[in-house]
Amino acid sequence: LEKEAIEKIEQATDMKELQSIKVAYLGKKGSLTSVLRGMGKLSKEERPVIGELANKVRETITNAIEQKNEGLEQAVLEEKLQKEAIDVTLPGRPVPTGGPHLLTKIVEEIEDLFIGMGFEVREGPEVETDYFNFEALNLPKDHPARDMQDTFYITNELLLRTHTSPVQARTMKAYDDSKSVKMICPGKVYRRDTDDATHSHQFTQIEGLFVDKDVKMSDLKGILDTFAKKLFGEDRQIRLRPSFFPFTEPSVEMDISCKVCNGDGCSVCKGSGWIEILGAGMVHPNVLSMAGYDPKVYSGFAFGMGPERIAMLKYGIKDIRQFYTNDVRFLKQFHNA
Ligand code: PHE
Repeated sequence: LEKEAIEKIEQATDMKELQSIKVAYLGKKGSLTSVLRGMGKLSKEERPVIGELANKVRETITNAIEQKNEGLEQAVLEEKLQKEAIDVTLPGRPVPTGGPHLLTKIVEEIEDLFIGMGFEVREGPEVETDYFNFEALNLPKDHPARDMQDTFYITNELLLRTHTSPVQARTMKAYDDSKSVKMICPGKVYRRDTDDATHSHQFTQIEGLFVDKDVKMSDLKGILDTFAKKLFGEDRQIRLRPSFFPFTEPSVEMDISCKVCNGDGCSVCKGSGWIEILGAGMVHPNVLSMAGYDPKVYSGFAFGMGPERIAMLKYGIKDIRQFYTNDVRFLKQFHNA
């Protein structure tokens, strides 16, 4: 009986089988139990002998079952560990993350540059009044220069601002104690244009304004030169060409010297070697006085630039629509720029 039980126990492959073996031998109706039950029929002399033997057999079987049980438990655990094993040396799966838009980065870079030169950053409304967008900038009704910037009108007096220059007038008005103003203003602007590679009905501008006693054209040139070198490289030069804006006098357009670098070094790019970057000038006396600054005491300069254009030049982007159509393949290229 013992031998048979031990053999079966050893061959058992799972806990269920082991359990049924236990029942078969040691259970209420098990073989060993029936031996013990039959003890009553034995003689006085036989009883202790068989009893002892039966107890030993029971002990042996119980031990064997326990041992086998432990072994099986161990095997189950090992199998589980094997299945759930992870290789902690594997590199993690990268989680795709977003990043700031190229335009946001350029605007922030330019903001930082001007903050470093003592400018504060201000904002103004995109839905603007005719007064601030035009009148306060020396563009009275029927002024022909209003056509320079085809306008989206909302009502007779309300429009989508065509440039960030109204924030010049708004800022000076807000400073009614006539202290000096030194600010830049980034923001969206709108023009009635047919969208193509170089035109967009919506784009961004960064306005700059510095008003104080004794501000001169040379101050403007110095600031712009520093800006151009910081943004495009120390080897760049700027030049100012005469231009016209109703709100500045004199008015200029600033060009930056362009260059192309390849394996053999750098050379000046094709064409004139200059690329137009922004418009600027000395704040028109009418603009100063309408905003409450006495043009005999105060003077100032202003400039306005387009971050899209700057980004296009800096990164060789050919189509302005790329900034707005949000093709992630385009946007991703600049995550580490
Ligand atoms: N507002 C002008 C434009 O939209 C740019 C500009 C700003 C020019 C400030 C002179 C001074 O083109």
